[in-house]
Amino acid sequence: MNRYADIAAMRQCRASWQRQGLSAALVPTMGFFHEGHLSLMRRAKTLADRVVVSLFVNPMQFGPAEDLASYPRYLERDSALAAEAGVDALFTPTAAEMYSPNFQTKVVVSGLGQGLCGASRPGHFDGVATVVTKLFHIVAPDVAVFGEKDWQQLAVIRRLVADLNFNLRIVGHPIVREADGLAMSSRNTYLTKEERQAAVCLCRSLIMAQDLAQHKETVVAAIEKAVRDFIEQNPGFSVEYATVVDGASLMPAAKLDENSLLALAVQVNGRVRLIDNARLFC
Ligand code: PAF
Repeated sequence: MNRYADIAAMRQCRASWQRQGLSAALVPTMGFFHEGHLSLMRRAKTLADRVVVSLFVNPMQFGPAEDLASYPRYLERDSALAAEAGVDALFTPTAAEMYSPNFQTKVVVSGLGQGLCGASRPGHFDGVATVVTKLFHIVAPDVAVFGEKDWQQLAVIRRLVADLNFNLRIVGHPIVREADGLAMSSRNTYLTKEERQAAVCLCRSLIMAQDLAQHKETVVAAIEKAVRDFIEQNPGFSVEYATVVDGASLMPAAKLDENSLLALAVQVNGRVRLIDNARLFC
């Protein structure tokens, strides 16, 4: 596996693959790899001749009170894991390489980026859309793979690709879960032992919501309340949102149908923010 910290070298690598007629898949990440990331990389290998993983903790998508400074950074460990997963190139730019001192451009996906996480993390999806646009220009992938845990992010990126006519395919990859069902996330490591045990309530609440929707309950607000109450039984767990939305438009659902998706964001002791989601009919 080759490692490139500068944009020109990454571009040269991609250009040489293009001359050989090789396709490329991109997996954008912020590092601290877990099985979720590795499964995205393995999926990417099935979709193209070469796989590029970008590892960049993007300052533009963090709010001033968020965990940019403490976000786990383990480049050598991640590099070894990516090589083992069969990645061909790891792109690890610095913030200075990605954002010149005079950087002034922002990519805004105005509708899809505003609700849910966009409401509680103002500017977050502008940062995501901007960095992903830059990565698409630098790597010129034929396909890019994103996890479905960040469902709203995936929707924002699909919109961005369609609106800006990027010539690439976006593939969403199913959520990878721990044995007890907790969705894998780099931020799970911030949880104490007790918080980690209790965090299983997120995926249990999703299963409960599916059961309610499929067998007993037709009122959206009643399902959202049941989920909120279930999670908030756990001391220190506070629901930021538990909202049934249309899986494509992300608009709050007035009634349940086959596109209904329950999206969740939960604060744990005001320190750790967890997200999860599931379709209610699957
Ligand atoms: O999902 C992430 O890790 C990030 O939001 C992404 C897509 C790599 C952009 O920084």
